[in-house]
Amino acid sequence: GAPVEADISGIKPGEKLTVEWRGKPVWIVRRTPEQLAALSKFDNELADPNSQRTAYPTPEYARNAARSIKPEFLVVVGICSHLGCSPSDKFQMGAQPSLPDDWHGGFLCPCHGSTFDLAGRVFKNKPAPDNLEVPPHMYLSDARILIG
Ligand code: FES
Repeated sequence: GAPVEADISGIKPGEKLTVEWRGKPVWIVRRTPEQLAALSKFDNELADPNSQRTAYPTPEYARNAARSIKPEFLVVVGICSHLGCSPSDKFQMGAQPSLPDDWHGGFLCPCHGSTFDLAGRVFKNKPAPDNLEVPPHMYLSDARILIG
């Protein structure tokens, strides 16, 4: 499949843009400063906090605290690493049905309850074996990104 270009200039903090790449949804999430600050708080509850597993290798440029090139923008394939459902956004912090009371935002897979943080990292003891995949991507400018 060909690479896909997307304009990210209209994404507001706390919002997500979905782009199709190779028939898969790719999510581009613009994280707020609060959401970024919360990422580091739960490393010990994550199955692979540093993205070292290799089933869906995380590109070198995204193996960092925010799991991204630019901390503000998360770019991940929106498909659960368990059996391929598409997780739902649960961006708000705080108590929500079916999520921990100290939830700091992320994604919940409706099929078997895997949860992911706002860097697409899977929580421990969930059916999904891996973090959400970071697709190959690069910035063409501040406003444009190339996926693939
Ligand atoms: Fe997502 Fe099973 S497909 S938890």
